[in-house]
Amino acid sequence: MGPATTGEAIHVEPAPASELVNPYARPVGPATIVIFGAAGDLTKRKLIPALCNLWSENLLAQGCAIVGVGRTALDTATYRKRVAEDVAKYATHQLPPSVVEDVISRLYYVAADFTDPASYALIAAELSRIDAQHATGGNHLYYLSTAPEYFAPIVEQLGAAGLVEESNGAWRRVIVEKPFGVDLESARVLNADLRRVLREEQIYRIDHYLGKETVQNILVFRFANGMFEPIWNREYIDNVQITVAESIGVETRGGYYDTAGALRDMVPNHILQLLALVAMEPPTSFEAEAVREEKAKVLRAIQPMTPERVLTHTVRGQYGEGSVDGRQVAAYRSEDRVPRGSHTETFAAMQLSVDNWRWADVPFYLRTGKRMARRVSEISIQFRRPPLLLFRNTPVEHLSRNVLVIRVQPDEGITLRFGAKIPGPSVRMSNVAMDFRYKDHFQQAPSTGYETLIYDCIKGDPTLFQRADMVEMGWAIVAPLQEVWSALPPRSFPNYAAGTWGPKEADELLERDGRKWRRIE
Ligand code: BG6
Repeated sequence: MGPATTGEAIHVEPAPASELVNPYARPVGPATIVIFGAAGDLTKRKLIPALCNLWSENLLAQGCAIVGVGRTALDTATYRKRVAEDVAKYATHQLPPSVVEDVISRLYYVAADFTDPASYALIAAELSRIDAQHATGGNHLYYLSTAPEYFAPIVEQLGAAGLVEESNGAWRRVIVEKPFGVDLESARVLNADLRRVLREEQIYRIDHYLGKETVQNILVFRFANGMFEPIWNREYIDNVQITVAESIGVETRGGYYDTAGALRDMVPNHILQLLALVAMEPPTSFEAEAVREEKAKVLRAIQPMTPERVLTHTVRGQYGEGSVDGRQVAAYRSEDRVPRGSHTETFAAMQLSVDNWRWADVPFYLRTGKRMARRVSEISIQFRRPPLLLFRNTPVEHLSRNVLVIRVQPDEGITLRFGAKIPGPSVRMSNVAMDFRYKDHFQQAPSTGYETLIYDCIKGDPTLFQRADMVEMGWAIVAPLQEVWSALPPRSFPNYAAGTWGPKEADELLERDGRKWRRIE
């Protein structure tokens, strides 16, 4: 423990070596991983590095192959060469050359038109050859990492080509990337399109936030410890704040981002997943259905916003020019492939209410944005203040709230802040912190965040994936904001300078309730 402001050095016991080797993590069964969108950004930055990490940890089977499917005309030899170069650039850490060689030797490329049946005949022929060569048991994981308009057509074609039929004990599963639709209606249509071809158990809707260790730890923190759950409710908690702030702008993604905006890009998926994990009831087991059902109940309990409430309890913003990390940066409207008069929001904040016995009257404040002061994702649980009575005749005039901060990234960890007496004859107080930092305790294996998700899908464990109804509920929650915001174009954009914590209205959202966003240093 040390003064919150100085962060004094403390001795931390590293975890015993036995805890760092996971005896439960065994190689998954054999499979061919077929990545649609093989030449895309996600594949080279995250998926291939994740597969290399899995291979290097011995978590993939020997009977494993990877097939990249893309629209670019390439042959396997050229693709292998490209991937080898990309791995050198994007791997999470320096990999032993043998790992890269092993992965590359299992890698193939098929050039395809995603909507042309002839391409799928070719894919089918290639897959049966590769399955035989690598003894993959005919198990296929199709990873849809293409532009979203291809998700449904690819699944339809896979179905027509007989590639999703599970026979002779082989399984066939599909991971669907984000964005899953652009609103409630399109998400429903996409779910229906997928369900026409696949059984729900074959569909793995990914939200990469659920692959983050710190996010998975929310469940362990809450339900594997006896001391937090009894106070995890409206009796003791005053409000919950979720911040997902990024200091980067839209980089090369201006074209996509301008059609999406901060709300769609981050809220119905990542942020509501964090909220659900914080607010859910204890599941009856850690079985996928038990966990997912409790999360779904939270989403169902979120009070739908009326148009009036959207006007009073939500805030949108767009960054102007400013300075981030001491560097002058351009306004959103001057970014590449962003229209000069764009009305797209790069910041969104809102107050939501979870209408159930545990959370009635506890506001959940959410905010997310690009080009904010710092990159930080955190959940801050703010506890009620105690009565001041005890300190009536002392200089203590104000008691701060106790705060529990779950830092999702960076500097992953959990901090509990509370008041302590400053040594000396009179009663004066200071805020101090108890700090748990992952890096002090655990040697974290370098990770892209996709390893667990790919591993789980091959294992057939959907716990960390979204059910159809959860995705639709996420969209239903933001639907009133989408409607009101699109009907009333913003008049004050840009309304926050790059490198700040967003527009002043976001502060006012809390101030009028006598609250403040936690100050993030
Ligand atoms: C993606 C969004 O889903 O998540 C991006 O489309 C955002 O705009 C990213 O930058 C944030 O993910 P992470 O893991 O960097 O917090």
